[in-house]
Amino acid sequence: MEMDQLVALCKRRGFLYQSSEIYGGLNGFWDYGPMGIELKRNIREAWWRDMVQGHNELSVPAGAVSPYEMVGIDTTIILHPQVWKCSGHYDLFHDMMQTCRQCKRLFRADHVGEMLKESAWAKALAEATGGDVSTPNSEGLLKWAKSKGKKLAPGLALVRAPEVTLASLAKHLEQASTSGLSFKGLLQHLATEQPAETGLQTPCPECGGDLTEPREFNLMFETHYGAVRDESNKAFLRPETAQGIFINFKNVVDSTRVRVPFGIAQMGKSFRNEITPRNFTFRSREFEQMEIEFFCHPSTSARWYRYWRDRRYRWYVELGLAGDRLRLREHEQEELSHYSCGTADIEYAFPFLPPGEFGELEGIAHRGDFDLRSHMEGKLVRKGDELVVESDEEGKPRYRGSGKDLSYFDDLAKERYIPHVIEPSAGADRATLAFLCEAYREDAAPDENGAMKPRTYLKFHPRLAPIKAAVFPLVRKDGMPEVAQEIYTELKRHFNVMYDEKSAVGRRYRRQDEVGTPYCVTVDSQTLVDGTVTFRDRDSLKQWRVRREDCLKELFGLIVGGAAPC
Ligand code: GAP
Repeated sequence: MEMDQLVALCKRRGFLYQSSEIYGGLNGFWDYGPMGIELKRNIREAWWRDMVQGHNELSVPAGAVSPYEMVGIDTTIILHPQVWKCSGHYDLFHDMMQTCRQCKRLFRADHVGEMLKESAWAKALAEATGGDVSTPNSEGLLKWAKSKGKKLAPGLALVRAPEVTLASLAKHLEQASTSGLSFKGLLQHLATEQPAETGLQTPCPECGGDLTEPREFNLMFETHYGAVRDESNKAFLRPETAQGIFINFKNVVDSTRVRVPFGIAQMGKSFRNEITPRNFTFRSREFEQMEIEFFCHPSTSARWYRYWRDRRYRWYVELGLAGDRLRLREHEQEELSHYSCGTADIEYAFPFLPPGEFGELEGIAHRGDFDLRSHMEGKLVRKGDELVVESDEEGKPRYRGSGKDLSYFDDLAKERYIPHVIEPSAGADRATLAFLCEAYREDAAPDENGAMKPRTYLKFHPRLAPIKAAVFPLVRKDGMPEVAQEIYTELKRHFNVMYDEKSAVGRRYRRQDEVGTPYCVTVDSQTLVDGTVTFRDRDSLKQWRVRREDCLKELFGLIVGGAAPC
């Protein structure tokens, strides 16, 4: 499947639209249409149901250390600014960025190399050099600078000052003891008018202008609360839902009957001012997270980490992301955060990635006692094997914690400790995108005249499908619409179903296939004779007859209880 095909289907059938499209769109922001919101809600509800409400604390789930409890929470998007100072986001949540001095665009420093390879002007320049970049032909470059280059790379030094730039390049080649240049070296020379003064420049992937040195750029969106707009009331839109859970740990313990081990779950919007939002909704600036902070005794935390890693992987498999496009990847030791003794990513081979590459769907991290201690004592840093409160020049805490006691007292074991935390942190939008990619299928199916025609369908797990069933009268006469509407009204009380009587029935089937409706129920002439209707399965195209008064039971069996009869 080409990504463009999925993007087009998402727009055509109401899954996803570019935000503010009528004003030209807003990069990194997406709106969910009528089908998209049903799909995303089903994913969120499956997560909440399976991880929180449906969890049974009396039994020991396979692989778990002991029975455990789960509760939910819904905290605000704007939290006290001190939260982000103690969590580390204020100082550490940034990307290294480079700005183009000519066109003023911002680039993530670690993306520039890759973007230059894909850059339209760099590709055109490579063609103009006739394939041999090591000893470039000045005449060809001059010609390019005065023609195509003007349009493609107006910021490039070669285009702004061709003679000066080429003279300096020729001097370099003359003086070079070893002959030749790499393509990257050539681009740097062509982006630099006077290397003696500035050193070689890295060109901008968009316009060829020179980029600044990498600088830190915090990814948190800023805002202000109250009437005055100054530093004292600056706040941030949360970049993760997790911190709202940590700062309420004590409230939950004190106001409910939960005992460690237990987890607090939260889902909601998070905001990151991503520099290069891309790949459809994969990297957005506003997105939804589904996070669990699971609190346990330090001595059992390594086992709980393995439990959550495997439990979360199984969840995606159970909902249809099976096969070699999904993988669980343990981080190497050097990838781990300074406080973590284990992190794994659940990754999916999104079709927009090069073959063999995977993108993160969810991270499961062992966070030790880092977060609770930071919110008690102040921002922590590692010193040798220890986590200690970071201090300023005068030896005072750089960022003060709340000073509240966030330890836990186990009244049965008579033990007080700061729980360790396992954090399974998923993105609802990335999960939605992965389920859409996985569901996209093309095959051939008979049309209304019985001729085989290409068909596109979305093979969603029935729990995730936006519409569970569509009810049709075969024709708009002979009392068929009335019977179909009766069935529709009954099913609608329990499931999101749709009624459709417009156009030929074959076309109606195809419209439902394209949005992933697993079952269609058709009232036809035989219904009027024997009271049965036709059920049709989206994937196998099999059809079978069901008594009209059994439609609800049949659908319950199919959606909740299993697959269609073969
Ligand atoms: N509390 C830990 C945390 O936030 P993260 O890896 O930064 O960890 C967790 O984010 C998940 O949130 C990711 O695995 C991804 O699914 C989702 N996510 C993060 N940034 C995102 C973005 N810019 N757009 C869409 N989803 C994003």
